[in-house]
Amino acid sequence: MADTHTLRRAEITAVGHYVPEKVLTNHDLEKMVDTNDEWIRSRTGISERRIQEHGASSDMAVMAIRNLVDRFGVDLKSIDLIIVATVTPDMFFPATACIIQEKIGAKQAWGFDILAACSGFLYALTTGAKFIESGAHSKVLVVGVDKMSSIVDYKDRNTCILFGDAAGVVLLEPSTDKGYGLIDQRLYCDGAGADFLYMKGGGSLNPSSHETVDKKMHYIFQDGKNVFKLAVKGMADVAAEVMNRNNLTGADIAWLVPHQANLRIIDATAERMGIDRSKVMINIDKYGNTTAATIPLCLSEWVRDGRLTRGHNIVLAAFGAGYTWGAAYVKWSIPGSA
Ligand code: COA
Repeated sequence: MADTHTLRRAEITAVGHYVPEKVLTNHDLEKMVDTNDEWIRSRTGISERRIQEHGASSDMAVMAIRNLVDRFGVDLKSIDLIIVATVTPDMFFPATACIIQEKIGAKQAWGFDILAACSGFLYALTTGAKFIESGAHSKVLVVGVDKMSSIVDYKDRNTCILFGDAAGVVLLEPSTDKGYGLIDQRLYCDGAGADFLYMKGGGSLNPSSHETVDKKMHYIFQDGKNVFKLAVKGMADVAAEVMNRNNLTGADIAWLVPHQANLRIIDATAERMGIDRSKVMINIDKYGNTTAATIPLCLSEWVRDGRLTRGHNIVLAAFGAGYTWGAAYVKWSIPGSA
């Protein structure tokens, strides 16, 4: 793919993230539903997650963008476009991208939201890259943010143990060095997945009413087993497809950056790709599944700690409601420790 690429390429030039201070541990959940720390850790790899007590998704996104500005000195007035991946927008409309645009004073930017659940960040990253590649824009903020605690039923042990709140953001700019940046992406969706992972209330199909609330339709429903099987297959297949298209083997990859839904899904994906656990970004133990935020949160933490650095080949992979799934190959250009 890299050799046949004739357009200008997008690269990630800055990263940032935010996690709320409040920690909800497995032991806390033991007091809320019939579960236990051992079950949660062994079945999911999660020990604790963060909960945003006040404010909305846009507030976490603004904190992540401030973190990016503090670390990389970006002038927000120069931003052309803000793309926000989320399933927990501040409200149905206006778009959370517009709310963020106003809060950060990005006066030159337009923006919109993308809804692809746990694949949302990959969908948004790919979309943002196309605006750079076409020459239309030069500075695109791509945000992945979710306040999952706002749609989780803390009486449902099947879902409440899984999710947490967080935000991550990257800045896309035209690549200055040939061979670096977002080299290849492949995205999929299959609407047959709509029966297995959804939130049915509040939309045009089931407008909010006492009945939708009584029936708990404003909460996430998940058929965990069905999602699990397809997530392993979807993430591994698409990651392998992107590796094959770019003549990469497991040995060429510095980091696999998987969506953090379940440690067993991550391990199975890495195994099928021939990638050792030591080369897989994992922080699900601390944050759980933060939906659109998982991948930028990993990227941002790994750069901060100097573990992800310039020249690394990385593969991002995600699977989520829809179903949606995808993978991207990135030749990383930011030096570590920022
Ligand atoms: N604590 C204790 N026991 C629990 C439990 C909990 N929180 N949740 C479920 N159980 C029980 C079940 O009731 C079941 O009991 P039974 O055998 O008596 O009926 C047993 O544990 C096994 O449940 P099961 O649903 O088969 O567990 P699982 O191994 O499939 O794990 C998930 C459940 C949700 C962790 C797993 O299916 C998963 O991670 N799915 C995909 C999640 C995902 O990726 N979601 C987001 C999209 S990216």
